[in-house]
Amino acid sequence: MKEISIVDDPELLVGISTSDDAAVYKLRDDLAIVQTVDYFAPIVDDPYWFGAITVANSLSDIYAMGAKPIIALNLVGFPSKSLPLDILSKILKGGYDKAKEAGVNIVGGHTIDDPEPKYGLSVTGIINPNNVITNSGAKPKDLIILTKPLGIGIITTGIKGKLVEKEIIDNVINIMVKLNKEASESMVEYKASACTDVTGFGLLGHLYEMTSASKVGANIYVSKIPVIEGTLPLVSEGIAPGGAYSNKNYLSNNVIWDSNISQDMQIILYDPQTSGGLIIAIHRDRANSLLSNLISKGIDAQIIGEFVDSNNYSINVLE
Ligand code: CO
Ligand code: CO
Ligand code: CO
Repeated sequence: MKEISIVDDPELLVGISTSDDAAVYKLRDDLAIVQTVDYFAPIVDDPYWFGAITVANSLSDIYAMGAKPIIALNLVGFPSKSLPLDILSKILKGGYDKAKEAGVNIVGGHTIDDPEPKYGLSVTGIINPNNVITNSGAKPKDLIILTKPLGIGIITTGIKGKLVEKEIIDNVINIMVKLNKEASESMVEYKASACTDVTGFGLLGHLYEMTSASKVGANIYVSKIPVIEGTLPLVSEGIAPGGAYSNKNYLSNNVIWDSNISQDMQIILYDPQTSGGLIIAIHRDRANSLLSNLISKGIDAQIIGEFVDSNNYSINVLE
């Protein structure tokens, strides 16, 4: 959004000039607010779980900066003439329950009439301005940790086509509703150098945001990348969201594939993740301690590669 003029304000520590997903505004030397917004249309049939997923996703950009979300406002679109209001109540209940789990108060919001339901939050968080973690701090030799498995976009596309069994639906819902809160607290404790969350641009799109913002490259290893059960059979049937292909087109000059990696696996790495995990850059001396800490909290984390010197910020995907 380069065409938008930016007010020069020294207290604005993170604005729209980098591709971070939340803004950070300094109030005092030891206090800044972190502001973000996210909303989307239903990706699962159950309204309660849709509400919970969208709240977990909306809070994620705050967690990716190592900040603590405190209050939020609902953004709601709902077709009140064609759908029973009971559905809206269930969406909001899912949202409030998830916000409560996060320790966040939803303090109001705004609803409009909309042909397709939509839900999300505008979230305010707080942080010490000296401790802000952005996507631009990754250093060569830092290791890369991913905190949720991939395949959310592919499986939810399969759900829309009624191609997915209940067990796999329940599993992907559990993955999407999992807050990035504990992963964020761990990366702050272990002094991560950079972080972002994996959402619409997929693993490779968000990793490329980190490499270009940090002016480094990355090597990642397909054998280390966790994939949600049920993803591969769907991809091999050609089931994937349009976003996976647009991510692929957009990133084609920035990703170098080992020739042995299948087209199906490539699509999984480009797959948009609704409420995906964090990509954490961590000094290699602390990476195993952080990984053990994440795993001890029940987080499905893996070291998937490392940042390297590079002058074009490209990503090498190896076997
Ligand atoms: Co976001
Ligand atoms: Co984000
Ligand atoms: Co209003």
